[in-house]
Amino acid sequence: MTYSTVLTEIRGRVGVVTLNRPQAMNAFNNLMLGELFDALEAFDRDDNVGAMVVTGGEKAFAAGADIKEMAESSPFGMIKQGRVEKWDRIRAIKKVVIAAVSGWALGGGCELALSCDMIIASESAKFGQPEVTIGIIPGAGGTQRLARLLGKQLAMEMVINNRTLTAAEALHFGMVNRVVPVEGYLDAAVAFAEEIASRAPLAVRMAKDSVNAAFETTLTEGLRAEKRNFYPLFSTEDQKEGMRAFIEKRKPNWKGR
Ligand code: CAA
Repeated sequence: MTYSTVLTEIRGRVGVVTLNRPQAMNAFNNLMLGELFDALEAFDRDDNVGAMVVTGGEKAFAAGADIKEMAESSPFGMIKQGRVEKWDRIRAIKKVVIAAVSGWALGGGCELALSCDMIIASESAKFGQPEVTIGIIPGAGGTQRLARLLGKQLAMEMVINNRTLTAAEALHFGMVNRVVPVEGYLDAAVAFAEEIASRAPLAVRMAKDSVNAAFETTLTEGLRAEKRNFYPLFSTEDQKEGMRAFIEKRKPNWKGR
């Protein structure tokens, strides 16, 4: 499959999707948004891929929704396009998706990073939700994800007053997993994803689903969700293989079943 606004490649067992509208700081027009999710879904179905990385350019991960495309839109036009509903597609991805962020991650770009499972940031990464400066608010989950991740005060400041976070601040506040030098930031993210791809695939899938449950529900329901994911793993070949390999002091050979 070839796309015109994103690039795709498989490195080892990692599927890499690169946003590729550098002339617009990787702003999301409708086409790029669709192609990004098409590419992620294709990797999600591909048995050669164990985990994914989403990245942009060194100067801009993504500068948000394409303001030029949206500028004259009406509410009905936006609803008809399903502009923000499209973002639900990334929530349905089963494999782990890592965001490799360098430079600007603004508006929808920040929300894309937050929609991924983990974030590797280059030292130049800057995160922000500048929507109020153009007369709107975040529409792809920013208000909700930032409030859950950072707490009310900082989320308010970012969403209401365009406070941006440097990579170091984002690490300090627990918004990103690692900060790495700009040079080689993508390689670092791919290596991180490769490590995840080396784990038992079904266990990783259940683990992702279980952690995500914590953001959807009460503790009691969340613990139930964890149990629902825990017990069935004892019916997999990989559970037998993993435990035998431990006992026999060798590396496990995962089958993904
Ligand atoms: N939409 C459309 N075009 C954009 C864009 C965007 N979000 N961001 C940048 N561009 C374009 C610029 O218009 C410019 O194009 P021209 O060369 O044709 O003029 C080109 O990309 C380069 O941008 P700048 O000249 O502005 O580059 P800079 O280095 O001076 O600044 C920036 C970079 C800080 C990212 C700045 O471009 C900027 O502030 N961009 C807008 C960020 C923003 O407001 N994002 C929120 C969008 S709304 C949203 O995302 C809603 C949602 O939740 C879904």
